[in-house]
Amino acid sequence: MNLTLKVWRQKNSQEKGQLETYQVKNISTDSSFLEMMDILNEQLVNEGKEPVAFDHDCREGICGMCSLFINGEAHGPGEEITTCQLHMREFKDGETIHIEPWRAKAFPVIKDLVVDRGAFDRIMSAGGFISVNTSGNTQDANAIPVPKEDADMAMDAATCIGCGACVATCKNASAMLFVSAKVSQFALLPQGKVEAAERAQNMVSQMDEEGFGNCTNTGACEVECPKGISIENIARMNREYLSSSFK
Ligand code: SF4
Ligand code: FES
Repeated sequence: MNLTLKVWRQKNSQEKGQLETYQVKNISTDSSFLEMMDILNEQLVNEGKEPVAFDHDCREGICGMCSLFINGEAHGPGEEITTCQLHMREFKDGETIHIEPWRAKAFPVIKDLVVDRGAFDRIMSAGGFISVNTSGNTQDANAIPVPKEDADMAMDAATCIGCGACVATCKNASAMLFVSAKVSQFALLPQGKVEAAERAQNMVSQMDEEGFGNCTNTGACEVECPKGISIENIARMNREYLSSSFK
């Protein structure tokens, strides 16, 4: 396939960015989207130009690093896949593809298509963990029965990879889907209930501090989430937050 790429180029967070146009030729339909980006970068390096900066790590849909807004969609076309799982067969020969970074005040652009998602790390540090007694008297996890339904819901919430597509997709740049998945994965299990009230309060207050917008229930986050995280988690987090406000 021969393609025209309109790629967001931005030197750093201070300078203004713009879309630059590039042509790539003879791209295999079997290539992944990131392999196509590698080919573009090889071409740019051979021409003595600066390659496009973009985030990636596992390239297997696990780490949450890849983060491209492709033709106006977080992680591009296709349901429940990350950018690294997207293949060029989803595009047509001769097509023009627009490639942009996540856009949100709380995710400032570092360079080109790379944004700073440190806000998510700070939210996790505020409460995305359980404290365990490591004195040697730790209770065996198997000694605490967990209903199958709760275990399944907790596991579903825990599949969130922290990619930030929910924020990039939301017109308010809300992080509620991410935070609610993290609150839920613990709130549903007995081990997480001990610090549940504190966790909901601390994670929500850190989320607000980071400058994410409010949730207005459009549901766009759920549609674009590569892991199919349900907005039911947002309702659960709201309940957790409200009940913890009275404790
Ligand atoms: S909720 Fe979905 S879209 Fe949001 S960070 Fe987690 S995996 Fe990514
Ligand atoms: S590179 Fe790890 S999820 Fe895409």
